[in-house]
This record gives sequence, C-alpha cells and structure tokens, in this order.
Amino acid sequence: MNALNPEIAATESLLAFWRDAGVDACFEDAPVDRTFTPAPPEQKATLKAVASVTVAPDLGGAVSEARRLAAEAGDLDALKDAIAGFTGCPLRDMGASQSVFARGDPGAPVLVIGEGPGADEDAQGAPFVGRAGKLLDKMLDAAGLLDRVFITNTVFWRPPGNRTPTPQEQMICAPFVERAFALMQPKAVLLLGAAAAKSVLKTDEGIMKMRGQWREWRLSEGGLAAPVLPTLHPAFLLRQPMAKRMAWADMLELAAKLDASD
Ligand code: URA
Repeated sequence: MNALNPEIAATESLLAFWRDAGVDACFEDAPVDRTFTPAPPEQKATLKAVASVTVAPDLGGAVSEARRLAAEAGDLDALKDAIAGFTGCPLRDMGASQSVFARGDPGAPVLVIGEGPGADEDAQGAPFVGRAGKLLDKMLDAAGLLDRVFITNTVFWRPPGNRTPTPQEQMICAPFVERAFALMQPKAVLLLGAAAAKSVLKTDEGIMKMRGQWREWRLSEGGLAAPVLPTLHPAFLLRQPMAKRMAWADMLELAAKLDASD
C-alpha cells in the first residue's frame, strides 16, 4: 500500500480486489496490435476487466469459418493445425499464450471432453496437465482407462481468470470438437462437468441430474453417433472430495461399457 499517494493506494487496492476475484488480465475495448501500431503517448488507455462475457462480433461468421476449417482437416494432426490457425474465437485475444487441442491416443476408443484450458494447460499446450488433470489421470488409470482415451476441451484457448467459457465461445469451437469426434469415431464419450455436458448435449439440465446416465451424441451431418456419459469435473472433485465416489462409479460404468463392446 502506498501511504504517500492516495491515488496510487486506491489503484493498488482496486487491482488487489480484482486479482482476488479471479481477474488476471486487463484488455481494452478493441484489440490493439502493439507490434505495428504503438499507441500515441497522449492516448489514455481505458482498461476494462474482462470477467464479463465477450461475444464475438460475428458469431455466425466465426462458426462458419470454424466449420469450413474443421471439414478440411483430414486427420487429428491437421485439425490441431486448423485450430492453431483459427482466429474467430474471441478467447484467443484475451491473454491465452497458445491454443491447446488434445492429448492421448488418437486411435483410442474413448473421447474425453473437458471445459477449457487453465493456466497450466496454457503454459504447456496440452489439456488436463495441472492438478485437476493429475486427478483425472489417477482415476482413469485406476479404472484401466488411461491408455484408452483421447482428451480435449470444449474451447481451445484459456478463458481469462479461468472462468467458464461462454456458450458463444463453445459454439464457435464446437465444429472442431465435432470434427475430432467424427475423425476418431470413438466407442464412447466422457463429458467432464456441467459446461462440457451442456455444450455437447445442447441441454440446460444440471450435471448432478445428468451424471452417470448414458446419453447419445448424434452429429446432425453424417449421422455419426456414440454413447455419452456425463460425469463430474475433476476440479470440482478437488474442492468436494466426497463427490469422488460418484465420479468413480461413472468411470467404472464407462470401463464396463467398453469391456462389453470389445
Ligand atoms: N479443466 C478443463 O476443463 N480442461 C483442462 O484442460 C484443464 C482443466
């Protein structure tokens, strides 16, 4: 705290409040390319906290472009490149350092879909590599599923402050998720948490109601379908360890379904 200058002290206090509330990045109203257009010295930047929802200026255009790029990808490597080159998702310009697509075996029988990358994933470029990911791996391993999964998320850039991705951001990234599903043709899909379940299954039902119940994910184009099991997100399990027993039951249910189909 700066005792000599009340304005600086007030600014420090406001920044500390935002930081504690989970805001870890500040942006101007419109993106500024600082490499080529240095802001004039007299221009005062109006900084705005981005805990709020940002909607893509052209949602329909972004979805169409994502669809076009996704359809052109002939395999999962090409899909990864297509995502990395896609500029239509607003999350890309909110402080993410890189796109985060997937990890695991591209030929695996199970596609696992989480919510979106966090700080560790953003730094390492792979999904579920932080604390939640370690727990996920432990559970998958114990259920005999660790080498039978391919893991991705509903969005491919870290939402600022680790907030939940908005439905619009998920909608923009959905063609890539659907293309991963179509290219893999998994035997089953595991959805981690409410945000993934709602986005993939296009429902408003609560995760506590959906978890442990098999649903169907059918793509409108191409007719591809697979059984889908929503479960609790590992980050939630870290906060509510008592709920692990439910997620564990879901893992065993998934393993049994796979074994029955082998
Ligand atoms: N949580 C998610 O939903 N996805 C990740 O990749 C990491 C944490």
